[in-house]
Amino acid sequence: QKIVVVAGARPNFMKVGPLFWELARLRAAGADNLPEMMLIHTGQHYSDNMSEAFFRDLGIPEPDENLEVGSDSHARQTAAIMVGFERVWLRERPDWVVVVGDVNSTAACALTVSKLGGRLAHVEAGLRSRDRSMPEEINRLVTDVLADRLYTTDVLADQNLLAEGVDQAKIRLVGNIMIDSLARGLPKARSLAVAAELGLAPGAYAVVTLHRPSNVDAEPSLRAMWLMLGELQRRLPVVFPVHPRTMARLADFGLLGLAKGWPGLRLVEPMGYLRFLGLVADSRLVLTDSGGLQEETCYLGLPCLTLRQNTERPVTIAAGTNHLVGLEPADILAKVDQLLAATKPAPNPPPLWDGHTARRIMADLLAG
Ligand code: UD1
Repeated sequence: QKIVVVAGARPNFMKVGPLFWELARLRAAGADNLPEMMLIHTGQHYSDNMSEAFFRDLGIPEPDENLEVGSDSHARQTAAIMVGFERVWLRERPDWVVVVGDVNSTAACALTVSKLGGRLAHVEAGLRSRDRSMPEEINRLVTDVLADRLYTTDVLADQNLLAEGVDQAKIRLVGNIMIDSLARGLPKARSLAVAAELGLAPGAYAVVTLHRPSNVDAEPSLRAMWLMLGELQRRLPVVFPVHPRTMARLADFGLLGLAKGWPGLRLVEPMGYLRFLGLVADSRLVLTDSGGLQEETCYLGLPCLTLRQNTERPVTIAAGTNHLVGLEPADILAKVDQLLAATKPAPNPPPLWDGHTARRIMADLLAG
C-alpha cells in the first residue's frame, strides 16, 4: 500500500504528526505489510514559525516534497496546489490520499484526487459552522462531499454528515487526532516554563489569538477587538502571539501605537507548537477565534472565550469549557469577569479524545 499524507498550513501539522508516529510504532513492533507513507507539504505556510518549527517540535519527518505555493488569493493558491498535487498523484498513484482539517490545501488536494479517480480520506470530517462566509466552511463542505472515508471527532460531526446524505458506511468515529499531539507533547511543553520566562505567574494570565479574516481584515472589527484587549490587560496580564495576517492589519490600520499605554499586553511572535502549548496549559483563560484552541482548552479544562458568532466545534460548548461570546467588547469583558470569579472547569473531553486516534485511523486504512 502507498499512502500520501498532505499538510499545508499551521493547523495541519499537529494532525499529521501522529500518523507518522503510529507508522514508526508499528514498524518497531515488527508489524508486516506496512504501507509506504509519504508526506507532501503544499507550502501554503512557509515561515519558520508557521511551519518548520512545528515539524521540529512534533518530530514530523521531512516532507518528501514541498509544492512551495506560498501566499496568494484563494483562487490562485488553490489552483497552484491542484497543479502541483496532480503531478505528485500521477507519479505516485497512491492507494490513499489523506487530507486533514479545513485549510485551502485540504480542499485543493481533495478536488485533485477525486477528479483523478483516487481514494480520499478526510481526517476531521463533519465539522460545520453553517457560515459560508468562512473560507474553512467551504473547504469542509467540498472535502466531505468528495471523501471516500470520513474520520470524525465526535457524534455531532457524524450527525452533520448523515444529514447531508453521506453514506454511513464511509464514516468512522475515531476521535480527535490533534489530542494525540497534545497528550504526547504536554509534559515537554510544561517543562519549557514559558510563563516564567515571560515573567508571568502560572494560572494568572490570559492567552489571546486572533487571525480570522472576518475579525482582522476590516478596520472596525479589529479596532473593537484591540480596544477590548486594552481593557482586558487591566484585569490580568495578556500574552498575544500575533499571526502574520493580524500583525499586517494592525500596522495598516495604525493600531499598534495605542498599545504603548497598555503595560499588561505582551505582543509576541507566533510560537512553535510546544512553547505555545506550554503557554496555554499554564494560563488562566484563553480568548481566541481559532478552531483548534477550542478543542485543546476542552481537553485541558481551561475556560475558552471564542470571539466569533458561530463555531464548527459545538461539542466543546456542550463540554462546558468553551463559550461563544461574539464580538461585542462589553459582552466579552462581562464573560471574562464572570469566568475569573468562577473556579476552573474540569477537563471534560468527548469520548475518544484519548491520544490514540492515529492508531484507529491507521488500522482502518490498512484494513482497506
Ligand atoms: C490559514 C487557514 C486558516 C488557519 C490559518 C492558521 C485557509 C483558508 N486558512 O489562514 O484556516 O486557521 O491558516 O494560521 O486555508 N503568512 C506568512 N507566513 C506564512 C503564511 C502566511 O507571513 O507562513 C502571511 C502572508 O502575508 C499571508 C497571510 O499571512 O498573506 C495569510 O496567510 P494565508 O495562508 O493566506 O491564510 P491564513 O490567514 O494563515
